[in-house]
Amino acid sequence: MRSLLFVPGDSDRKIAKAMSSGADALILDLEDSVALDRKEEARAMTRDFIASAKGQEKRPRLYVRINALTTDLWSADLEGVMSAGPDGIILPKPRSGEDVHRLSLALDHAEERAGLKQGSTRIVAIATEVPICVLNMASFVGSSGRLEGLTWGAEDLSAEVGSTATREPNGSLTSPYRLARDLCLFTAVSAGVQPIDTVFIDFRDQDGLRAEAAAAARDGFTGKLAIHPDQVPIINAAFTPSQREIDHARDIVAMFSASPGAGVISLNGRMYDRPHLTRAERVLARAGLASGE
Ligand code: COA
Ligand code: MG
Repeated sequence: MRSLLFVPGDSDRKIAKAMSSGADALILDLEDSVALDRKEEARAMTRDFIASAKGQEKRPRLYVRINALTTDLWSADLEGVMSAGPDGIILPKPRSGEDVHRLSLALDHAEERAGLKQGSTRIVAIATEVPICVLNMASFVGSSGRLEGLTWGAEDLSAEVGSTATREPNGSLTSPYRLARDLCLFTAVSAGVQPIDTVFIDFRDQDGLRAEAAAAARDGFTGKLAIHPDQVPIINAAFTPSQREIDHARDIVAMFSASPGAGVISLNGRMYDRPHLTRAERVLARAGLASGE
């Protein structure tokens, strides 16, 4: 998934708009963007929307962000939406991989009640929203077979830490938030799940988003959260390998398969060894092509 667009779960207007945004996934939000007295309404609207959107051809993947497991809201969130069979649940503010495991057990029951296939509901966790989780990142590895992706958040983390900013005046992340980002990347890769970069909240700054998404794609993230439809095409473009990258990756794969057993090859005056082959195969996989083609 390249782009995952947040949509407040209680906004008719935004929900209607989101389907045509071009996002690979929508995240119907029941957490921070929905006021406490609107939670019940948001659950019902989210459920009805997912139920009607699921049947559509070529639809985005449909996720629901529930409230944190430390609240008394999350069980009702699951109860409210699971009958529609969302593709997955976004878990905010986990304290460790143990919370992913707990959610997974709750989903076992919810799927059974809703008559859904066991294990079909995936989980994307927003790691790094609470400080202790930054210290517990390794616990996400092997936490649940449902885990599909890991993303990270700076806003809630900075509120807890007491930082007055998460970015330098030039827009780059400050040191504590670079650490959170980088740990998310290493942890997701270690867990064999998608590393997804965080939101870029200045949604009118398209150049800033373009640069940040390009840096994330360069570093190994496979997608990025979005908060506004205008961000979606920029994010999709950043995480789609260019024709030049695809051609180059194809050349590397072809050279290696032409000399089976070779650990190292040369191509246009440069050396390529096994890590380059792995990287090339990744590019082709991301481009949706089988690496052998
Ligand atoms: N999903 C779907 N549609 C959205 C949208 C979103 N995330 N954000 C904006 N839109 C729609 C607006 O409703 C508006 O449509 P309209 O012209 O039919 O009314 C259009 O896109 C243009 O919106 P714009 O006026 O530029 O922005 P706004 O001031 O209405 O909204 C935000 C700005 C930040 C409030 C809005 O983008 C938003 O709610 N984002 C998601 C917030 C969220 O979920 N946060 C939690 C995760 S961090
Ligand atoms: Mg939040």
